[in-house]
Amino acid sequence: MASLAAAQDSSDSDDEAHFWPFAEAFEDDTQTYPYGTLSAVASHVTTPRETALAAARLGDVARDDVFVDLGCGVGAVTNLVHATVGCACLGLDCCEAEVAAARRAAAPPVDGNAATYVTCDLFDMPRHVAGVEAARLVVYMHLIPKLVRRSEVRDLLEPYVRAGARVVTSKYHPDYWRAARTDGTLDLRRYDAASLSAADDARWRRLGKWRGFYNSAHAPHLPPGAAPTLDALPWRSGEAYAELARYLEDASRGARALDVGCGTGENLAALAARFDEALGVDVVQGAADAANERVRDLENARAVVGDVLAPGAAAKLGTFDFVFDAQTWHCVRGVDEAAARAFYGALVRPGGRLMVLCGNADEPDERGPVRVARADVERAFDGTGLVLEALAPFRFDATPAYARQAFPEPPLGWRGVWRRP
Ligand SMILES: C[S@@+](CC[C@H](N)C(=O)[O-])C[C@H]1O[C@@H](n2cnc3c(N)ncnc32)[C@H](O)[C@@H]1O
Repeated sequence: MASLAAAQDSSDSDDEAHFWPFAEAFEDDTQTYPYGTLSAVASHVTTPRETALAAARLGDVARDDVFVDLGCGVGAVTNLVHATVGCACLGLDCCEAEVAAARRAAAPPVDGNAATYVTCDLFDMPRHVAGVEAARLVVYMHLIPKLVRRSEVRDLLEPYVRAGARVVTSKYHPDYWRAARTDGTLDLRRYDAASLSAADDARWRRLGKWRGFYNSAHAPHLPPGAAPTLDALPWRSGEAYAELARYLEDASRGARALDVGCGTGENLAALAARFDEALGVDVVQGAADAANERVRDLENARAVVGDVLAPGAAAKLGTFDFVFDAQTWHCVRGVDEAAARAFYGALVRPGGRLMVLCGNADEPDERGPVRVARADVERAFDGTGLVLEALAPFRFDATPAYARQAFPEPPLGWRGVWRRP
């Protein structure tokens, strides 16, 4: 297998026919996507061989890496990187004809590493790379500027940039990150963890990480190669929490209940059985969709998308007789403690209650969820008028991800109940 450097110097024109046999332009075929109207097939630009090889060098693509070409077209770049580096390569493109051409031009697998092509929207990438360690990913894109600069592309790639992957762009570059390295002559830029600012990190903790859990772009809980599925979310047992079910058995029927960070909706469904109206809120559209699917037969339950840390979030939701929170408060307080206190403090009606299930710092083992000291739970809502009625340790319900942590029991948590007099 030729090294990248050797391949760059090579003027072997026989290779050209193999890598770029499809020079013809494709017809314009405008389509409307959720992110705008684009030509399904951009005017065909053949990436020069030296640019493809320089991109692979800038991305430090190695044999153990997985090279992903977003908008691979006829596979010119992907097939060249596959043939020269010998790594696994994945080309994604929405144009069936181009993908078919890329497949025809692909070389056979090299030591089991294949060049694979998929006809799909580039926003499906997380599904196709789930279970690949991010540190092995190199994402290459040469896409039209209208697309590259869209916030949706930023959201798509952000989880990988921060997790150790490398993103290499050609000619049209994102303007929201700082390039970590460049190849000025060929107009290539590399983005990686060094490209991110403190503001990017804050955005990640507030939103990106959660989106990533639901679209599989952030999947530290998935074993390598595992198929992405919401069933595998680390906190998800598939049932309402036993602590909530027990509490509701003794609770009197109420008018309105809220599930903060409702996830996939099991707890929302349990609340709907006890309250006239059950509302769930989650910052991720995919979570709200899953929750709405879970409660689709219940007329009194629904989930909405909302960031509980946003100014005015509580006022938009109203007030409640019962507010339930499982594993959300312990996350959002780490992003903005004052905003979290104000949000939870404003939701509970006089006579109403707030129940929080959160991680417990008495859990002796280094494992999730976030572990909170008793004193921090006790003073969580100081100054809001909520009065702590009960605080006790409990064990979270078993989930497949907790089982994989290889401890005899699920993690320890706190169950806290506050009341507004
Ligand atoms: C650990 S999960 C728990 C989900 C659910 N409560 C459960 O236990 O099954 C935390 C949930 O909070 C949501 N979340 C995180 N930050 C949020 C925010 N600022 N506003 C609303 N929801 C948020 C996440 O999207 C996620 O669904």
